[in-house]
Amino acid sequence: MQNSPKRFTITAALPYTNGPVHIGHLAGVYVPADIYARFQRIQGKDVAFVCGSDEHGVPITIKAKKEGITPQQVVDKYHAIIKQSFQDFGISFDNYSRTSAKVHHDTASDFFKKLYEDGKFIEQTTEQFYDKEANQFLADRFILGTCPKCGYEESYGDQCENCGTSHNATDLINPKSSITGNTPSLKETKHWFLPLDQYEPWLKEWIVEGHKKDWKSNVYGQCKSWIDDGLRPRAVTRDLDWGIPVPIEGADGKVLYVWFDAPIGYISATKEWAEKEGKDWEPYWKDKDTKLLHFIGKDNIVFHCIIFPSMLKADGTYILPNNVPANEFLNLEGNKISTSKNWAVWLHEYLEDFPNQQDVLRYVLTANAPETKDNDFTWADFQARNNNELVAIFGNFINRVVVLTNKYYDGIVPTHSDFSETDVATLKTLQESPALIEESLERYRFREAQSRMMNVARLGNKYLADEEPWKTFKTDEERTKTVLFVSLQIASALAVLCEPFLPFTSEKLKSILCHSELDSESSWKDVSTKDILIPSAHQIGKAELLFSKIEEEQMQQQLDKLAATKKTNEMMNASPDPQKDTIQFDDFTKLDMRVGTILEAKKMPKTKKLLVLKVDTGIDVRTIVSGIAESFTPEEVIGKKVTVLVNLAPRALRGVESEGMILMTETSEGKLVFLNPDQAGDLDIANGATIN
Ligand code: MF3
Ligand code: ZN
Repeated sequence: MQNSPKRFTITAALPYTNGPVHIGHLAGVYVPADIYARFQRIQGKDVAFVCGSDEHGVPITIKAKKEGITPQQVVDKYHAIIKQSFQDFGISFDNYSRTSAKVHHDTASDFFKKLYEDGKFIEQTTEQFYDKEANQFLADRFILGTCPKCGYEESYGDQCENCGTSHNATDLINPKSSITGNTPSLKETKHWFLPLDQYEPWLKEWIVEGHKKDWKSNVYGQCKSWIDDGLRPRAVTRDLDWGIPVPIEGADGKVLYVWFDAPIGYISATKEWAEKEGKDWEPYWKDKDTKLLHFIGKDNIVFHCIIFPSMLKADGTYILPNNVPANEFLNLEGNKISTSKNWAVWLHEYLEDFPNQQDVLRYVLTANAPETKDNDFTWADFQARNNNELVAIFGNFINRVVVLTNKYYDGIVPTHSDFSETDVATLKTLQESPALIEESLERYRFREAQSRMMNVARLGNKYLADEEPWKTFKTDEERTKTVLFVSLQIASALAVLCEPFLPFTSEKLKSILCHSELDSESSWKDVSTKDILIPSAHQIGKAELLFSKIEEEQMQQQLDKLAATKKTNEMMNASPDPQKDTIQFDDFTKLDMRVGTILEAKKMPKTKKLLVLKVDTGIDVRTIVSGIAESFTPEEVIGKKVTVLVNLAPRALRGVESEGMILMTETSEGKLVFLNPDQAGDLDIANGATIN
């Protein structure tokens, strides 16, 4: 274990660039990584905090195909959106790069070439799944099948999303092409494999024996079970056309496996940053005094703890991660967050609904972070934490201190007289708080760290409530000054201590307290060592609300949004009606269906659903009452060609006799559409033509 490293290289998982980012990403990876990076920086540590867009891989090509655009267009679009969201939420990357950047293609190619030349790969021709109809090999997410480990029926070729196991595509039971749905055939192809089995003894020593105590138990447990199960060689190349070309001869049409290139993206991002800053990148990856940390979600554990370290080890010149503080998953209102089902709170949408309230979301996601088990995000909890904690404790304390200082002393920090026992004890607790927060952060316990920071606000709130300066103001001038002096020290400390968690609030609070006007601005260390953080005679600014109450209606709007998503999903997934009993051909011929044209349409008075139509059936012009008024206006349907069942026994609806039925179906959103005979184009079909 490194106790006082010279520098920190902090990485956050590169997000796939096939969609925007949501609260699950923020809670699991980016907020904890950012808290840690900010915390080290404000202690004066040398930090490289890097990330970037993961722009290769099959999901991006699938998305491009679906939308009829190129993979590059897909990644350009989402790279911009994702980068903006991170910036908006104050994720303080030193560099946010992308894997389509030239520096990354070069770095990843060179990495591969070196291992290749050093004889670290096994070259093997094996049979891989092939889709004859799509005319391509099926790697990774192009193939679906039953997971050999847990039995989940929609496991991907390289990884099961249900149990997290990573496997080879040919291990799947009942494999199916996700392009055509066909059962794939096998075809021979040559690939390069990293012989993970050879790294097993070393991984055992490094992880199983070396990191049993300091790695989180969820991370350690997963690693141990994979190593115990036995590791096998893993292909690091693929037959695909989107990715980094395999940089050796005889590898045409092959690219690096996305999980080979993406983690090298951390190195490329560091290089790109160092170049801009005029620094040397190598110490951040090669010096033993550097602490390398990977912040990731639990589905990435195998890649960051087994495969990438084996790659680094194979190269031989790199340091290894000191820790991989992976989080579990965040659910949303009881259901798994899902990009494809749109079951998520998207960061860019959150900001539209809650402008300037980034810190509230950061706070709630940390308070509820899935650190040791999956957790649930609910809007009720969001509202409660904002109203009862941020507003009622933090905001209320600061507001009272600033308002009273302005009211009694024109915003000038008063001079204190002798401290009471309570004052001394309060200031002592204050001085002890940075060490407590530090201790939690160094153990990657971000919820605990944040709650210890909030205890400082609680301390202030309680101190004010007990000392009641608004009462002593009339009776004891000296005491009032002292109480406000002490309170202002707590407020100042809070401005510093909340920075890693609530960066926007910290900035606002520092500006209210005019910290930049101080002779020396307080640092993290000062809070535990200095007796005075904000001196007498210092002028502070006017009160401004740090947090505001979130109302019931705002929560209802969010819940309504989710309910609408749920409804859409149910419609999309609704299983078709079961087939009716078999009929004979004779039964069918009894139905007389004709082509007709709607000539007139009127709303049936006092109903929501019914239109009264006049339809030219070719036989006659007749009245048909149809329940389509919620999907069509009368004007819209006039002139439409429709299919009519003409020999249905007439029946009276609201006193109007309906002589037939128009054939319809429903879209997944529940809108009715006609089964109309001119859908095929400009065919000229006469009214009265028989349908059979
Ligand atoms: N794109 C991957 C995911 O979202 C993470 C890649 S992390 C890296 O799960 F190490 F490969 F960069
Ligand atoms: Zn599984």
